[in-house]
Amino acid sequence: MTIAVDIARSTPRSVEVVGIPVPSEGPVPRALGLNRAALATHGFEGKLGQTLVLPAANGATTVAIGVGKPADLTAASLRTAGAALARACAKRGSVATSLADVDAVDTRSAVQAVVEGMILASYRYVDLKADKSTASRLERVTLTVAPAKAAAAAAGAERGLAIGGAATLARDLANTPPKHLTARLFAEQAVEIAHAAGLEVEVYDEHGAAELRLGGLLGVNAGSTEPPRMVKLVYSPRTPNGHVALVGKGVMYDSGGISLKPSDPMHALMKMDMTGAATVLATMSVLKALKVKTKVTGYLMCTDNMPSGSAMKLGDVLTIRNGTTVEIHNTDAEGRLVLADGLSLAAEEKPDAIVDIATLTGACLTALGQKIAGLLGNRQPWIDQVKAAAERADEPVWQLPLAKEYRKLLDSNVADLRNIGGPYGGTITASLFLNEFVGDVPWAHLDIAGPMNVDADEGWLTRGATGFGARLLIELVSGFRPIAG
Ligand code: BES
Ligand code: MN
Ligand code: ZN
Repeated sequence: MTIAVDIARSTPRSVEVVGIPVPSEGPVPRALGLNRAALATHGFEGKLGQTLVLPAANGATTVAIGVGKPADLTAASLRTAGAALARACAKRGSVATSLADVDAVDTRSAVQAVVEGMILASYRYVDLKADKSTASRLERVTLTVAPAKAAAAAAGAERGLAIGGAATLARDLANTPPKHLTARLFAEQAVEIAHAAGLEVEVYDEHGAAELRLGGLLGVNAGSTEPPRMVKLVYSPRTPNGHVALVGKGVMYDSGGISLKPSDPMHALMKMDMTGAATVLATMSVLKALKVKTKVTGYLMCTDNMPSGSAMKLGDVLTIRNGTTVEIHNTDAEGRLVLADGLSLAAEEKPDAIVDIATLTGACLTALGQKIAGLLGNRQPWIDQVKAAAERADEPVWQLPLAKEYRKLLDSNVADLRNIGGPYGGTITASLFLNEFVGDVPWAHLDIAGPMNVDADEGWLTRGATGFGARLLIELVSGFRPIAG
């Protein structure tokens, strides 16, 4: 289901639902026809994300949308309010609202946020269901704004549609079962998307990967009957203000390999272990449409991680693209192996900065929970740019230290490195491992093991894959500033 957005100066007659924003304090909009006491008897206080549906005998249904305290209004709260409105209208075809016509947030950002919230909250993964009645029916959104704001609103709508669409793509890819999305099929989709999005694309199969000496990717793939793929995507604007490389973990299914994961409901989620690669592809798919000024190169490191007679064994030593040898102590620590090749390739090109994004460690999920991604890196100004982008996208991150004192936990008897550290600080030791492959290029790592998935609908999140990171990365490369020092 795609949603069309119109910008108008007044509510169209034919609309099925009218959404009226109501703050938690101050006057209640007259159009609602109810005062605060009457709303309160229906349990509606105007708290952010609350909605109250007021059907009419004839004409449009009214939905009161809580927007919280006027002083607290931000783009993020408008995204949440937009999501709440979309959920209240899921069974209706059209809605008009003045939600984005605010003074506290610039019009372009306000409209973008409302549109993103509405698209993301309308998302359902029904591709494999016979009964598609759970899908949202919302097709048409009219955002009413004062005439002077129309141009900025149109620009915001375009941006919101593109970014919401990108996050939707990332969710679709991550929700797709492993049999329906092998590394080969993922690469095929990447090629199609790249062609439609004006990107250069190169796909490397197992032979191409061997020529490139991608020992990490090939080592992880060794147990699989499905071949691996490495996809390189390039977006080059005419006069770029810099060059950012994005590296995504694309483990199509993570069984653990020989270090097999025990059966546990969590492991049904391991089809989402390619969320990092999905968010990189989704990000790159809209760079041209958004007229991003920065050159961006993406590396999707795709394979599944399976046990079999040909799988890599504990004690095996792999040689990564940059020549580093790695002794395998746990085949379930596979993400860092495929990322090591991707980071090596990225660093060779000497970009201004690198970000990798990966569902990397259960430890990060334990430390930060399901709503917050881990952020680590080797250069604070670059990490700070990632933090700022995360804030704009309302995709929360928390920085953890790249603690050099733990580096010796990765020492191996026989190789340059071992692929796991000790029992504690798993997110940090995984990052110290990655740090060995970036040379001195400014680099940041996002561990999205927690927020890749949600268990229940909430705000603009819909149960299942979240596509977490796509909006963050789009914000990051859209606002890229060369890093001093
Ligand atoms: N893909 C997993 C991490 C993961 C766990 C993501 C839960 C999302 C939810 C990763 O490949 C993994 O298995 N990591 C191991 C590393 C360990 C063997 C050092 C882990 O976290 O247990
Ligand atoms: Mn694993
Ligand atoms: Zn994994």
